[in-house]
Amino acid sequence: MSLILLKFFHYLAIVFSGGVLVGGGLIQSVYTKANKIPDLNVARVLKLLGYLGLVAIIVLWITGILLSNFIYGGFSINSAFTLKIIAAGLLLGLSAFINLHVYNSNNKQLPPNKKIMKIGMMLGRFLIITVLISAAIAFN
Ligand code: HEM
Repeated sequence: MSLILLKFFHYLAIVFSGGVLVGGGLIQSVYTKANKIPDLNVARVLKLLGYLGLVAIIVLWITGILLSNFIYGGFSINSAFTLKIIAAGLLLGLSAFINLHVYNSNNKQLPPNKKIMKIGMMLGRFLIITVLISAAIAFN
């Protein structure tokens, strides 16, 4: 039963992290193309999406660590799995960094740096695709 619950929360968090990257990315690219800065409410939505993404990746780590230990007795599963956790670790670091950047710019009453946000979004997409491909290979 606990395995089913852990898997359910692992998958639920995947849905959330993907949604954040797709939804947040779309909003950001529409504003960038129009050369406009998001208004206060949209900025609030983007900030919330950023938090959600961070919470999702933390849930992925907690459930992922428990799943690896319960099912495989540790992290030495195969090399595709090693790549998966490296990419997931980078994604966690990236998400924490972007959230900190948004928090700091908010405190200074400045909009987040456009370049940092754009590169962060592209890197985030690349990393989540890497995690998904390596998960597909690791557990086939
Ligand atoms: C961005 C982060 C992550 C994503 C997108 C992700 C995605 C996935 C996906 C799609 C699966 C299903 C694969 C399948 O059953 O064929 C899976 C399973 C699994 N994940 Fe993750 N994962 C992430 C983070 C982690 C982390 C950090 C760990 C461990 C430290 C982990 C451990 C596992 C384990 C052990 C399974 C296999 C469960 C089973 O055998 O049914 N995951 N993950």
